[in-house]
Amino acid sequence: QKTIGVLTSGGDAPGMNAAVRSVVRTALKKGFRVLGIQRGYNGLIHGEMFEMNMRSVSDIIHRGGTILYTARCLEFKEEAGVLKAVEVCKNAGIDGIVVIGGDGSFRGAADLSRLGVPCVGIPGTIDNDISCTDYTIGYDTAMNTAVEMIDKIRDTAQSHDRCSVVEVMGRHAGHIALNTGIACGASYIIVPEVEYDVNDVVKKIRAAGELGKHHFIILVAEGIGKVDEISRQIEEATGIETRGTVLGHVQRGGNPTVRDRVVASRMGYRAVELLENGIGNRVIGIKDSDIVDYDIQEALKMKKDFDMELYHIANEISF
Ligand code: F6P
Repeated sequence: QKTIGVLTSGGDAPGMNAAVRSVVRTALKKGFRVLGIQRGYNGLIHGEMFEMNMRSVSDIIHRGGTILYTARCLEFKEEAGVLKAVEVCKNAGIDGIVVIGGDGSFRGAADLSRLGVPCVGIPGTIDNDISCTDYTIGYDTAMNTAVEMIDKIRDTAQSHDRCSVVEVMGRHAGHIALNTGIACGASYIIVPEVEYDVNDVVKKIRAAGELGKHHFIILVAEGIGKVDEISRQIEEATGIETRGTVLGHVQRGGNPTVRDRVVASRMGYRAVELLENGIGNRVIGIKDSDIVDYDIQEALKMKKDFDMELYHIANEISF
């Protein structure tokens, strides 16, 4: 009987549970034994694992977070940590592992695969910053949460004739900022992928003010940060009272959207199919709605384009 392990690693993302559920149920249906590994590679190194059955993943498809817990593991970045994990896998009879996480987690999955433990990665991060896939699990939910929050901020900005500068997550990428910005009707979207000058933001606010606009939403990606500084600059230049808000970890929680649940379920299924055939060192992606998989090293070398067309549209239709 084949034994498959499953773990979640790096920052949690809504929909990770749906992926775990899919992996566990697909593997059990195929007659495999399934071990849930807790707290990512940390738990693997320290043998924190338990056998999972059909019921272990009941009642989780709609829950944010991850029932397997997650962690960022420094020890696993060293060869000694990886070797320790290989030893644990051998002792536990693990024939393959599904790793749900981001780029850092895939590097670990590649190391394990190289040392004889086939691993398949599933992209789970709210940032959508994994190049080999159009879409990462958690991205849709995080954006919907951000939009809900920014809509509330807009109510108060409108009531006070204020400008609100809102920072959303995304690490070094501006995908969340771009999409939430357009969805919230932001006057300006500041992202790391496009150079910006705060004077352009000010100009846009002034021009809109002349047309009778009194409240403004400015979206800033985490990769830019500096919300307080930007707020102060806008207030000083325009005289409009300005408030900064960093949305923070609220974006990482909550019930996953339909899209996140469905993509997670599809990716989990494919990951087990690969391990069933003894194929490791792969990462799953979604391209033009199709589930695909790539060699991990190739996937890590890919580059993802920022959607400049959408950025242009956002600029055109905001004022
Ligand atoms: O990768 C997800 C993410 O939420 C990023 O958007 C953010 O930069 C980072 O994780 C925050 O990490 P932590 O939860 O460790 O503070």
